Amino acid sequence: MSQRSCLSVILAAGEGTRMKSAQPKVLHQIAGLPMVAHVVKAAEAAGASGLALVIGHGADEMRKAAAKFAPKAETFEQEKRLGTAHAVIAARAAISKGYDDVLVMFGDTPLIDADALTLARRRLAEGAAVVVIGFRPPNPTGYGRLIEKDGKLTAIREEKDCSEEEKKIGFCNAGMMAVAGAHALKLLDAVGNENAKGEYYLTDIVEIASAQNLDVVATEASFESALGINNRAELAQAEAIWQQRRRHDAMLSGVTLIAPETVFFSHDTEIGADTIVEPNVWFGPGVRIASGAKIHAFSHIEGATIASNCDVGPFARLRPGADLRNKAKVGNFCEVKQAVIEDGAKVNHLTYIGDARVGAGANIGAGTITCNYDGYSKFFTDIGEGAFIGSNSSLVAPVTIGNGGYIASGSVITESVPDDALAFGRARQKTIPGKGKELRERFASAAAAKKKAAGADH
Ligand code: UD1
Ligand code: MG
Repeated sequence: MSQRSCLSVILAAGEGTRMKSAQPKVLHQIAGLPMVAHVVKAAEAAGASGLALVIGHGADEMRKAAAKFAPKAETFEQEKRLGTAHAVIAARAAISKGYDDVLVMFGDTPLIDADALTLARRRLAEGAAVVVIGFRPPNPTGYGRLIEKDGKLTAIREEKDCSEEEKKIGFCNAGMMAVAGAHALKLLDAVGNENAKGEYYLTDIVEIASAQNLDVVATEASFESALGINNRAELAQAEAIWQQRRRHDAMLSGVTLIAPETVFFSHDTEIGADTIVEPNVWFGPGVRIASGAKIHAFSHIEGATIASNCDVGPFARLRPGADLRNKAKVGNFCEVKQAVIEDGAKVNHLTYIGDARVGAGANIGAGTITCNYDGYSKFFTDIGEGAFIGSNSSLVAPVTIGNGGYIASGSVITESVPDDALAFGRARQKTIPGKGKELRERFASAAAAKKKAAGADH
């Protein structure tokens, strides 16, 4: 089958009014990726080399977004929404290039898996002209019903056009179809709009093809993979299903999730075997974790690279550009942004490291802050190998702490410190014997005098 060429036509022109959003429906995200981009991924995984995106509502925004998530896709604008067949025909120029297989997919059905599409393509390879992807929703109301006669699919009837008898059918149209490229345009051009909604229904090609004695078959996909998103409750439902699938895959690939239902992945999270993730961890986009890391509870991680055997959290925040090398440690209430934490370095408590390098084996004391920003520009802090930064120090960038440099606690460091030097950046302590007691007595008698004077006023 691999030698058969395949075009995926993704319908995404609809308005999606029930999302109540200024943004086109299919750009709402699941796992940090627009739902239509999930559809593109599934199409590509099923072998589609051509991608045609049919847009309408919010066309400019859609074009801009598509340039990012599907740079190879051709976009076609459907000026008026006259139905699903009309929408597919908007991509006529792509279809007429002569692909063997044409997959029609919906931009708002993001959980469709490549397996369901591959199965449909296999049926085309076996000689079918039209393959309908069917499913059995718990409540079929609103879906097109698959009408079969003598075990053959003869028509799809939209809910509004169904007889009472037909409404009882539980096997429904998930919406997606695979059509043999050789027949696609002829079938689509034969569709009319004499139905309850006055629309050109893609589903009508089933009746047209079977009247021409072409082979029309149905496959069955799971309800979950055919879930269509119309409102934000369904969006959350799809997110939950996606997360559940991803957690399952992560665990089967050797990652321990202590409370899987509390860990949230992004569409592109990479996480190596023998990593342990404690409860309540959030992975934003762009996270790569090698093997054997420990991610403690309540950590929030995005755009970060974490090498083998690192220890992160609890309550760590790793922001884009955080790059932890082998066995580095970033502990509780620490934020790291655009910084390399080299092998075995420790940033353990209440610290901000931004625009910096922390050399191998360096120890960053509690409350250390890299002062990287003057309100206009960002500056770099370079901390050498084996350096020791005493607690509650501010490193005012640009500044370099040499290898083995030692910073006294509570310092404000504004000048670079050479290798192995000790730097104090704070006022010296002064201790006066007996002065504490004397002060206490003075304050106590002043307070007593004030109270007495107030009493005399009454
Ligand atoms: C469609 C199917 C129905 C199936 C259901 C599954 C048809 C006629 N009906 O109905 O059998 O059970 O999906 O969810 O195909 N779109 C356009 N341009 C248009 C019309 C639609 O781009 O002119 C896009 C929409 O944005 C959407 C998709 O096509 O992504 C499906 O359209 P929708 O109106 O949701 O069809 P349904 O009535 O749900
Ligand atoms: Mg729909």
